[in-house]
Amino acid sequence: MKSVLSGVQPTGDLHIGNYFGAIQNWVRLQDNYECRYCVVDYHSMTMPYNAVQLRENTWNMVFQLLACGVKPENLFIQSLVPEHTELGWILNCVTSYGELQRMTQFKDKSDQLKETDGDAFISVGLFDYPVLQAADILIYHADYVPVGKDQEQHLELSRNIAQRFNNQFGKEYFIHPEPLFTETPKILSPADPNRKMSKSLGEKHYINLFGEEERVRKQIKSAVTDTGDTPAGEMSAGVKNLFELMRACGNMEAHNSLMEDYKSGSLRYSDLKEHTANTLIGLITPFRERLADLKADKRAVKQQIQESSAIVRQRAQRTMQEVRELTGLASLK
Ligand code: TRP
Repeated sequence: MKSVLSGVQPTGDLHIGNYFGAIQNWVRLQDNYECRYCVVDYHSMTMPYNAVQLRENTWNMVFQLLACGVKPENLFIQSLVPEHTELGWILNCVTSYGELQRMTQFKDKSDQLKETDGDAFISVGLFDYPVLQAADILIYHADYVPVGKDQEQHLELSRNIAQRFNNQFGKEYFIHPEPLFTETPKILSPADPNRKMSKSLGEKHYINLFGEEERVRKQIKSAVTDTGDTPAGEMSAGVKNLFELMRACGNMEAHNSLMEDYKSGSLRYSDLKEHTANTLIGLITPFRERLADLKADKRAVKQQIQESSAIVRQRAQRTMQEVRELTGLASLK
C-alpha cells in the first residue's frame, strides 16, 4: 500500500473552507493509503506565539481532526516524534542557503511580520521551516503528500533534498515524495465572495466548522449575493459560492433543482440560502456532537494520541538509525 503524509499547523478553530479544502480529503484517503497525519507544533514556533496557547491549540486541533473522521491511529503530534528535528538538522546540511532564499512563503511570512512591525523579529526557524517539512515527509518515506497549491514549492524542495542526500551518500535511500493535488471545492468568504474563506480576513469571513447552528444560519442568511460587479447574464460570485457549498456538502438534489430555478429566472435567494444553511448544518452537526463527546473524555483521547505518536515514532527511529549509519555519525555499537 502506498503511503501518505500530511501536516497541519495548530491554528485554532477549523472553518468549513479548511474542511472542504483539505481535511475531508485526508479522511477519504484513509481508505486507500497508509496515512500519517500530524499536527505540526514545531512549525508553529516559527512565528511569534504564546506557549500556553500553543499547547492548547495543538490538542484542540487533535480533537477537531478526530471529530472530522481522522482515525486516531493515523494521527500524531509532530513534537512527540523529536526525530523530525534530528533529521531536519541533517537535511539542513544538504540544503543550500540559496534554495531556501527562493521560498516564497518565507518572503510572504516575513513581509507579513514586518508589515505589523518594521523591526519584527524574523527567526532562523521561519527561514528553515521548509527543511523541517521535508524531514516530516522523508522520515516516513511517504509516497504522497496531500497539500494545497501553496505548498508546491516546498514539495519540490523536499524532492531536491532527497536527491541531494541520495547523491551525497551514494544510495537511493529517500524516495521522491509527490504532492497530491486533489480537486477540492474552493469555498469563498460569505461576506466578500471575491476572496477565499480565511480567518485572517476577520470574523464575518469564515464559518466555523464546529459553529453553533444559529450562528451558521445567520451567516448564510447574510451572505452577500449581489456584489454589484457581476456582468449581465452571469451568476454572481456570492450565489455561485452558495451553490458550491451545497455541492461540497453533497446535496446534489437540492443543488440541481435550485439550479433549474436559477436558469428559469425563478430562483429566490432566500430559498437558496435556506437550503444551503440546512444542508451545511446537516453536515456539521454530527461533527459538533462528536467533538463534544471526545472532549467529554479528554484524558482518554490524549492517551490514545500519545500512544499512536509513540508507535509512529518507532518508524521514525528506524529511519534515523539508517540515516546515522549512512551519514557517518557516531554509534553506540
Ligand atoms: N507547511 C504546511 C502548511 O503550512 C504544514 C506542513 C508541515 C506539512 N509539515 C508538513 C504539510 C508535511 C505536508 C507535509 O500548510
